[in-house]
Amino acid sequence: MNVLVTGSGGREHALAWRIARSPSVRRVFVAPGNPGTASTENAENVALDIAPSGFEDIARFSREKEVELVVVGPENHLADGLADYLRAAGINVFGPGKAGTMLEASKSFGMEFARRHGIPHPSSETFDDRREAEDYVKNTPGPWVIKTDGLALGKGVTIATGREAALETVRKVMDEGALGEAGRRVVFQEFLEGQEVTAMCITDGEYMVPLPLARDHKRVGEGDTGPMTGGMGAFSPVDLRRYGEGLEEAIRKEVLERAVEGLRADGIDYRGVLYAGLMLTRGGPKVLEFNVRFGDPETQCVLPRLEGDFARVLLACAKRELREYMTGDAVRPEDRLRVKVEACATVVMASAGYPGSYKKGVPIHGLALSGGAQAPSHPAGASGREDVIVFHAGTKIEGGTLVTSGGRVLSVTALAPSLDEALRLAYDKVSSIEFEGAFYRRDIGR
Ligand SMILES: Nc1ncnc2c1ncn2[C@@H]1O[C@H](COP(=O)(O)OP(=O)(O)O)[C@@H](O)[C@H]1O
Ligand SMILES: [Mg+2]
Repeated sequence: MNVLVTGSGGREHALAWRIARSPSVRRVFVAPGNPGTASTENAENVALDIAPSGFEDIARFSREKEVELVVVGPENHLADGLADYLRAAGINVFGPGKAGTMLEASKSFGMEFARRHGIPHPSSETFDDRREAEDYVKNTPGPWVIKTDGLALGKGVTIATGREAALETVRKVMDEGALGEAGRRVVFQEFLEGQEVTAMCITDGEYMVPLPLARDHKRVGEGDTGPMTGGMGAFSPVDLRRYGEGLEEAIRKEVLERAVEGLRADGIDYRGVLYAGLMLTRGGPKVLEFNVRFGDPETQCVLPRLEGDFARVLLACAKRELREYMTGDAVRPEDRLRVKVEACATVVMASAGYPGSYKKGVPIHGLALSGGAQAPSHPAGASGREDVIVFHAGTKIEGGTLVTSGGRVLSVTALAPSLDEALRLAYDKVSSIEFEGAFYRRDIGR
């Protein structure tokens, strides 16, 4: 089959790469893609307008190129209604419609959803009125977790330890509209302490397959210091032994299964990824937020750990045939989704200044463009089983040279028998790549 992936980040490079390696796939189109997807075997970039003005063209393209499945990468494409539009046009889509996207597009909706369906979550309060929000800050003990309700590209959460700072944040986002319409409504959450973990599953609204757990490093500085970013690196699996038996099962049953059942009970046709950002507290896992698409950079370290015909799994989701696919007789067991025991780590190389302002157009050295660096390489290792993959996130070609075009530039990923080895391979690769101002955290996976 042919598949169209939308988006242009590291997550989409990982998706295109994994889909292109599925036995059932002939060709992967990526719109708009990046230099990494362009040089992925079996994949090519296509210039399509992903905004609502281009939906008709996407549908036409899909019919002309016999695209059997569209996989929507970023949340904004979903929030714009791309999945609804294509589904109505008779095209199979992996990704929820607008109704399901509310889980991510409104944090108050997400928390209310969790409450309604008995999914553990921090207590939370929503305000549309600045004065009421200020009164709340004045009358509660800190720290205050202040979240803009709407999509804010990972910039919508502030954790304030001082009352003045909390009031200042409320004023900034609610009054001055520092985050646009996204900030007119704010959600306060109880401050939770613990380790975070990302739990994703793929679901067709009826059946659910959990993906391996991953952990992302969100702050820019080593030792989890400095401002929040989109994510500076991630790894999978996550060692949960210190939490005792049963945590993984609790995540599956109390969070993922309840969420899928909740969506069904609410009458929401949901086909895609459901992502739960969890805090592992003394009282068990609690949902900080839901996302409605693959995480970035978690996807880069989760997809290399999957075996099976990934594209057909996603297609089965899009067609609401996931249960048959995963349990029926018609599918060979090796084509079903399975998880490798190997560990995977991804290290983000970023531009100086990120997550603040940064330079673009800086030449990148040490990455061959065709074949080579983007395709999985097999360094001669004792086991001979390692893979190193450089996923592109913020790169472009300028005058024939690969240059930076974003804050997060590359996701350098390695798969190996142990997490230590995966980290060693990833960091080895990182040290062979250079661009002016490049920085990365040295403590991913630690
Ligand atoms: N209730 C909370 N208690 C403590 N930390 C939190 C809480 N909610 C969010 N955080 C921290 O803020 C980060 C971002 O919050 P999240 O809800 O995931 O928003 P987004 O991903 O949209 O920026 C989390 O990954 C976590 O580190
Ligand atoms: Mg988050």
